[in-house]
Amino acid sequence: MPHVVTENCISCRFTDCVTVCPVSCFHGDEERLYIDPDACVDCGACVPACPVSAIAEMGDLDDGRKIWLSINANRAAATPLITGKQNPLPSAAERRAQLGF
Ligand code: F3S
Repeated sequence: MPHVVTENCISCRFTDCVTVCPVSCFHGDEERLYIDPDACVDCGACVPACPVSAIAEMGDLDDGRKIWLSINANRAAATPLITGKQNPLPSAAERRAQLGF
């Protein structure tokens, strides 16, 4: 099963995940990133790279959170490829603290 970016990326957008992805499967808008599930090869390298644990393997999500697969697929198809590290959002430090990381 593919990996997905979940709610913790919102207002953070650290983009550390992008730097370790071997297949460039990350897309993004002004708020957060998304993984293209057709491009993801399930290597798992991005999971520990995210400072706010925003990325999960689909099989690890409970049923109520499996909506993230279609959200990632739909938004990845509609947003540009992100291929390098970018500055986090101005809200990232505060959001990270709120999330307990
Ligand atoms: Fe988002 Fe974490 Fe990547 S905050 S952009 S999933 S490093």
